[in-house]
Amino acid sequence: MCFFSALTFMLIFALSLCAEAGKCPRLCNCDSTKLTVTCIGKNLTVVPPTIDEITLKLDLRSNNLQVLPRGAFVLTPYLTHLNLQRCNIIKVKEGAFRTLGRVVSLNLAHNKIDVLYQESFDGLSSLKELHLDHNRVEEIQPGAFTQLGFLNMLALTHNQLVYIPNMAFQGLHNIKWLRLSHNSLNNLAPEAFTGLFTLSHLSLDHNELQFFPTHTMSRWETQKGVTRLDMSHNPMAYLGEESVSMAKLTHLYLDHMSLQDLSEQALSHAPRLSHLDLSHNQLRYLEPLSGPKELASLNLTGNPIYCNCYMRPLRQWTSIGRVKLLGTCAGPPHLSDEPLQGVAPLDLRCRNRGEVLKDRFEEDDETVRGSPPTAKPRQKAKCPVNCNCDVEAQHATCEGQGHTKVPRGFPPKTQLLDLRSNHFHYLPTNSFPGTSQVVSLHLESCKIHEIEGGTFQGMKNLVYLYLSDNDLTFLDRGAFAGAPELTYLHLEGNRLTQFPGSALALLPSLFVLHLEQNAISKLEPAGLLSSATPKLRELYLTNNTINAIAKGSLDSVFLGTLHLDANQLMEVPTLSGTPNLEELRLCRNSIRWVGPNAFQSIGLSLKKLYMDQMGMEKYIHHCLSSDSVVLDLNFRWMENVSLEVTATCGHPPELRGQKVMDVQVFTSCPEIISPQDQRVVIKALQFTTLCGIDIHYLLFDHNKHTKAKDKGERNEKSNLIPRQFPSKL
Ligand SMILES: *[C@@H]1O[C@H](CO)[C@@H](O)[C@H](O)[C@H]1NC(C)=O
Ligand SMILES: *[C@@H]1O[C@H](CO)[C@@H](O)[C@H](O)[C@H]1NC(C)=O
Ligand SMILES: *[C@@H]1O[C@H](CO)[C@@H](O)[C@H](O)[C@H]1NC(C)=O
Ligand SMILES: *[C@@H]1O[C@H](CO)[C@@H](O)[C@H](O)[C@H]1NC(C)=O
Repeated sequence: MCFFSALTFMLIFALSLCAEAGKCPRLCNCDSTKLTVTCIGKNLTVVPPTIDEITLKLDLRSNNLQVLPRGAFVLTPYLTHLNLQRCNIIKVKEGAFRTLGRVVSLNLAHNKIDVLYQESFDGLSSLKELHLDHNRVEEIQPGAFTQLGFLNMLALTHNQLVYIPNMAFQGLHNIKWLRLSHNSLNNLAPEAFTGLFTLSHLSLDHNELQFFPTHTMSRWETQKGVTRLDMSHNPMAYLGEESVSMAKLTHLYLDHMSLQDLSEQALSHAPRLSHLDLSHNQLRYLEPLSGPKELASLNLTGNPIYCNCYMRPLRQWTSIGRVKLLGTCAGPPHLSDEPLQGVAPLDLRCRNRGEVLKDRFEEDDETVRGSPPTAKPRQKAKCPVNCNCDVEAQHATCEGQGHTKVPRGFPPKTQLLDLRSNHFHYLPTNSFPGTSQVVSLHLESCKIHEIEGGTFQGMKNLVYLYLSDNDLTFLDRGAFAGAPELTYLHLEGNRLTQFPGSALALLPSLFVLHLEQNAISKLEPAGLLSSATPKLRELYLTNNTINAIAKGSLDSVFLGTLHLDANQLMEVPTLSGTPNLEELRLCRNSIRWVGPNAFQSIGLSLKKLYMDQMGMEKYIHHCLSSDSVVLDLNFRWMENVSLEVTATCGHPPELRGQKVMDVQVFTSCPEIISPQDQRVVIKALQFTTLCGIDIHYLLFDHNKHTKAKDKGERNEKSNLIPRQFPSKL
């Protein structure tokens, strides 16, 4: 007789062996006519070995499988549907599905998979749908999908992808829909989608793309097939000429970005476009779009459209072409909130030249003055010596030309100005006259050691400023005066000795600040961040020399990402005023112990915590190699942190796979371990992955109470630190 007492791996395993072959596994529901087996939420740690061989549909949702070993499903070769949602799966070993040549739908959503290995999906030769949403995928190894020649839909939404390498999806010869929404993509390799000849629907919304990936999307495969492209919720500020070159595209979603400008030629190579969603951007007006011949709807909802004579050509164009125009006027006052579609073209007026100037579409006076708004003057191709100006693309570059002074006289519509690798040394006040349209300014590697107050004066559209790899040791408090829209500021690779608080106070929109590789040693006083840059979301301070962080200095309501890795911290900083902090990096510091309340105050918001390569680990590696010293590492601080820490015991065998976070591990480990076995080895995965090394083994003394008694020398606190450091550290 089999009887069931506790849900341990051993017992489940034993129980399943008790069941007769061909019968329904204990804990599961089986339907012998439909050939389905359902074992939902049973804490199973292995696939039950007694599932009837002829089963077609297997539903194992909400169990605790952790690792899918090679050949995990060899006993059920006829499966067509396999559901492994919410199974706490960390790793899919190569060949896990190799016997499942009939499966058409595989659901692996809501697990903790971080790498898609080369042969993870081998054998799934009939698969049509693969769901990998809500995992932690940050790497797709080359060839991961090569055997999925029948796949129609691949869903990788809500993962941690930052970059898509060339040929990532090679082998998907029948793919129709690729869903990459809700990742952190900021870069797509030019050949990222190469080979996807059948792709028709691509979702890239909710990522971090700052520019339209023109090169990637213009490959002939994507041109050939893609009809729907969703790019919404990416931080793009403008769309230049010929950005979108996609011959078959009919639906394009560009809503909820930060578009301030869209060239009339942006879609000139998208002739089939019928639906364009530009809602919720920062567009003040729009010109008739050249390119789309069959446009049926244009959505401008939620833009600050100013309904004067500049909007008249668009309004006329949409009414001639019967384009459904959505959105309302934001001004002037007598038209505000009027639906665009309802305003007659003749009511879109500029009363006199004075108003034209006053309305100023953020343009340089010289292009506006005296020119009728409907017939803009042809842009003069002016460009400074030793520079290249692409008027159509609104780019100008003077990269690496040995300039010692900032050149002047760029085309007034220039939006991207690239001056990197010159020898400016010093930037005087008003260095960039006539560049009010510039959105992105590159000044990397220009040997700049001083920026005078008002240098960027007049750059009222500047959003991205790159000052990386210069020689700045301090910043004048007026350095950024006149560039109030600055949102992304790069100051990494300088020699700043202090956090440049007073200079930042002039940047109310600052969102992301890069200060990696400087010489900042202290963060003080309290209120440093909140007074200088209260809206900041991301702060990068990697590789400075920070050894002290004053209490309250990093308090900030909006701060979500904080990188403090590769500094000289000796303890976890007190972060009590950062209620929205989600990601904290502390790797490569000298923090040797973590107190039980270290993360209490941020525990509720924190989602990612990186702590590898600290002093503790050096010590641990040493332990492993010498195999002599035993280390106490107390993991109790994890208890009150809501983040999911993927740390599992790797040793001894009875505990393999158990979660470290599970307090039970601590209380139950000592009882199960044989007296000869002095240690529990913990495999800590998640909080070590991005800082370089993949897997670390942490040791902790399972038998600390006995030991403590034996030694008779330890107090509460000494439980938290290595008892004894090897002399060579
Ligand atoms: C699964 O195990 C956890 C603790 O290990 C327990 O709280 C929970 O009730 C179990 N669930 C089921 C369905 O047995
Ligand atoms: C236009 O955009 C708004 C806001 O994003 C949305 O609610 C609406 O459904 C869109 N309309 C059409 C026809 O696409
Ligand atoms: C820190 O930056 C220096 C260059 O400034 C580099 O040589 C070094 O490798 C970096 N260290 C770490 C830990 O990233
Ligand atoms: C976790 O929080 C509870 C309640 O605030 C507290 O009693 C407990 O001591 C905390 N545990 C640790 C390890 O800090």
